[in-house]
Amino acid sequence: MAISRCLLLFLLISLFASFGFAEIRYTEIRSDNRPIIPFDEFGFTHTGRLELNVSGIKLSDSNPDLDYSKIGFFLCTRDAWLHVLQELEDAEVTCALNSRLVKVVSDFKSMKGDSFNALYEEKDADQYTLVFANCLSQIKVSMNVRSAMYNLDGKKNVRDYLSAGKTILPRVYFFLSLVYVTLAGIWIYVLYKKRLTVFRIHFFMLAVVILKAFNLICEAEDKSYIKRTGSAHGWDVLFYIFSFLKGIMLFTLIVLIGTGWSFLKPYLQDKEKKVLMIVIPLQVVANIAQVVIDETGPFGQDWITWKQVFLLVDVVCCCAVLFPIVWSIKNLREAARTDGKAAVNLMKLTLFRQYYIVVICYIYFTRVVVYALETITSYKYLWTSVVAGELATLAFYVFTGYKFKPEAHNPYFVIDDEEEEAAAEQLKLEDEFEL
Ligand SMILES: *[C@@H]1O[C@H](CO)[C@@H](O)[C@H](O)[C@H]1NC(C)=O
Repeated sequence: MAISRCLLLFLLISLFASFGFAEIRYTEIRSDNRPIIPFDEFGFTHTGRLELNVSGIKLSDSNPDLDYSKIGFFLCTRDAWLHVLQELEDAEVTCALNSRLVKVVSDFKSMKGDSFNALYEEKDADQYTLVFANCLSQIKVSMNVRSAMYNLDGKKNVRDYLSAGKTILPRVYFFLSLVYVTLAGIWIYVLYKKRLTVFRIHFFMLAVVILKAFNLICEAEDKSYIKRTGSAHGWDVLFYIFSFLKGIMLFTLIVLIGTGWSFLKPYLQDKEKKVLMIVIPLQVVANIAQVVIDETGPFGQDWITWKQVFLLVDVVCCCAVLFPIVWSIKNLREAARTDGKAAVNLMKLTLFRQYYIVVICYIYFTRVVVYALETITSYKYLWTSVVAGELATLAFYVFTGYKFKPEAHNPYFVIDDEEEEAAAEQLKLEDEFEL
């Protein structure tokens, strides 16, 4: 069952991956009369280039008297675009291509036969969107567009296909993967040293860290291939596979730790299994959505739908993983009241509460704060949001590993009477605590 599911997913991934070409994009437009079609966004430095190859152009009306200068491609910053919209509204210009605020790359007047190529040099550093405008509303356009945007780097004019704010990402990912490899090494050492008190969950944690390291290595390779050649050379497929495995394992791990599986009890309750049965398929959906989102770019036709699917699924997963922790906290509080081992349970209780808060912080930070950073930082510093998210993830891994490490002198079982009494006192206060 599990294997057939994995295979299916792999097929789906390869299917999606085959139509995405990373930073060099190939787009087919078929009988489209949208007045504005945005293609792609890119952060240029002072040595930016845009290569545009348009072929197979067919217009629904091939009347030679048409004003072909009213159909074409232009580059525009977001701020400028708002002004252009205002100009259009005030009827200062009739076509976005005529506005002085946009940089026209090429219009259809330069068409030879059914195709044209254009090379545009962008000298003003900024984040631009490549947009197609068709101001002849009665005309439907079909064409194949290949667009490549890059910056020339250094004295040798090496092409850098990564947007200005993302160009250091390969190094960032590579460095982080080294950090996780080190963490995995440390963890193996800890497991070996404390092998008498190791639970199954500790091996699970090891697997998650190793997958995370592989995931980052693939992402580094993927990005560095894109940087050099404009396409990922298959590394994106590996990256998606590891992302998928890591995503499922991480959420499962959070649920398992939350239930206290293998720490507190060797089995899972039915309702806890149900949480896993919800989270795992949802992670599959989330990963498929992520693949589509990444590969189609922000202006692909299904982008918004998939983005919404992803957000919804992600929110459901994040909420679902909190339930087992809450149940554990509830159980521990009840147990602490009924049986005599107040101190033991109180310690576990504190641990689970900390864990609960840290999981919430982790989710909040990697979803909300990272997103906010991404929105407010200038295009030149887009990498900062990636680094912030990765550091939060790293902190979460380290916290989880540290708090749930195998311990020879497990404090849960060695407790003296004094502590026991103090704990019983504290538990009375705890009763007032509401989650
Ligand atoms: C695309 O256009 C550029 C710029 O004119 C040209 O150098 C390049 O050879 C073209 N590529 C293809 C595949 O036609």
